[in-house]
Amino acid sequence: MTLRLFIPIDAGALAVGAEEVAAAVGVAAARRKVAVEIVRTGSRGLYWLEPLVEVETPAGRVAYGPVTPSDTEALLGALLADGAHKLRLGPTEEIPWLKRQTRLTFARCGVVDPRSLADYRAHGGYKGLERALSAGPEAVAEEVVQSGLRGRGGAGFPTGIKWRTVAQTRAPQKYVVCNADEGDSGTFADRMIMEGDPFVLIEGMTIAAIAVGATKGYVYIRSEYPHSVATMEAAIAAARREGLLGKGVADSAYTFDVEVRVGAGAYVCGEETSLLDSLEGKRGLVRAKPPLPAHKGLFGCPTVINNVLSFASVPIVMDKGAAFYRDFGMGKSRGTMPIQLAGNIKHGGLFETAFGITLGELVDDIGGGTRSGRPVRAVQVGGPLGAYFPRALFDTPFDYEAFAARDGLIGHGGIVVFDDTVDMAKQARFAMEFCAIESCGKCTPCRVGSTRGMEVIDRIISGENRPANITLLEDLCHTLKFGSLCALGGFTPYPVMSALTHFPEDFAAPPRLQAAE
Ligand SMILES: Cc1cc2nc3c(=O)[nH]c(=O)nc-3n(C[C@H](O)[C@H](O)[C@H](O)COP(=O)(O)O)c2cc1C
Ligand code: SF4
Repeated sequence: MTLRLFIPIDAGALAVGAEEVAAAVGVAAARRKVAVEIVRTGSRGLYWLEPLVEVETPAGRVAYGPVTPSDTEALLGALLADGAHKLRLGPTEEIPWLKRQTRLTFARCGVVDPRSLADYRAHGGYKGLERALSAGPEAVAEEVVQSGLRGRGGAGFPTGIKWRTVAQTRAPQKYVVCNADEGDSGTFADRMIMEGDPFVLIEGMTIAAIAVGATKGYVYIRSEYPHSVATMEAAIAAARREGLLGKGVADSAYTFDVEVRVGAGAYVCGEETSLLDSLEGKRGLVRAKPPLPAHKGLFGCPTVINNVLSFASVPIVMDKGAAFYRDFGMGKSRGTMPIQLAGNIKHGGLFETAFGITLGELVDDIGGGTRSGRPVRAVQVGGPLGAYFPRALFDTPFDYEAFAARDGLIGHGGIVVFDDTVDMAKQARFAMEFCAIESCGKCTPCRVGSTRGMEVIDRIISGENRPANITLLEDLCHTLKFGSLCALGGFTPYPVMSALTHFPEDFAAPPRLQAAE
């Protein structure tokens, strides 16, 4: 008998010892002379349980975690007996945190071997492309429009409309670019897809290429993601070998190929036009719009640029149809959102669910409150440019419009939790500092205003003429919001003003108690 085990090779799992666990399992198996097959998968996204080890049983996979190398000897013994062990979590799919999710985009993540095209196909992969090839370009763009899919990178622009614009722009060369810069604080969903289910991204980009008439694609990955780079490159090579990339994609008349490009580490290079400059080999500088990238993008050619999650959601839209996908969600936010729970949170990880769940459910119920055990005081949603929400706004549903109505944004779906030791005046200052450090420098409100903003907040914190300086800060935020060329300067007021609006006491009192006190 061969024991079949699944151990993640995802960077988050590796960071807490998955490699050492896999090695220790190998040693223990050799000592016991037991045949063990270890399949390296992506992560299921239950990060507080990593390294999570799963074993194949006739009734499905059973999970154990978090496993350390010193647990492996006894764990192997248990697996060879009745399976009882103190780290046993039960059938993986029955773990409540996973069972409550609706995994459409992440259906295969943590399940398949990310480097095996055969495994991808065995789990429904490439059915979307098959349908796209038989439907034809116009029908594909229309299907994506009808699905209601909106860009998951932050702005929430309808993906199908973007594709239609590129499709209708006549040009001898067009491109498909995947934005895998994933710079938002507390976000890791793009990384998980690239490391856990890379073929879904390749399939989504290929479908986009067919829809718009592009022959070449790039995946722009941040340099901090070496595992993603390696997995994507291996998957691209496998897709090429199997005729799913290159000339005559899947025996069709279409040609499309993809290459990986690694960014140099600037937050602003996640902004689409700046990313295109970087891809062209220049310093990442934001371009004025118009022209839109859809008309004049990479090397001056019409370009589809989408986030990893947007592309990765397309195969299921094409496979199951627009109506299936659109059926999930609320209002104008259709389908599911891979939400990332991070910061000071007990159960951090990837939670994919239909739009409409409330912030309170996510933080208190699913996240289990703070890891420190202290009360939750604030959460920042949507990355470093997102607003800080107090508990009073926890009834806000996860929905683009509902968050906008409360001066917030859902961005790339990252939620960073803070307990009651947080000093919100310091967080406001940090937002200005972040903007000052990351500004591309093209426009004055952001380049100069962010540094002036730090100085004003410093004066408020030190108690210097508070009322006048608060008025000045509000005025400065107004200028940043309406005078900046891109959302880095334009949205920095969100964290600053939300901190000031919802936590004014932190701007008016001596510094708050620190965690150790
Ligand atoms: C400062 C800044 C940083 C951004 N960083 C990212 C990023 O890391 N990943 C991403 O997908 N979009 C990022 N965006 C949004 C992109 O400009 C763009 O809207 C997105 O790539 C479009 O893809 P989507 O429609 O699929 O979301 C950023 C925007 C700004 C202003
Ligand atoms: S807002 Fe900031 S990052 Fe954006 S273009 Fe202006 S200077 Fe550059």
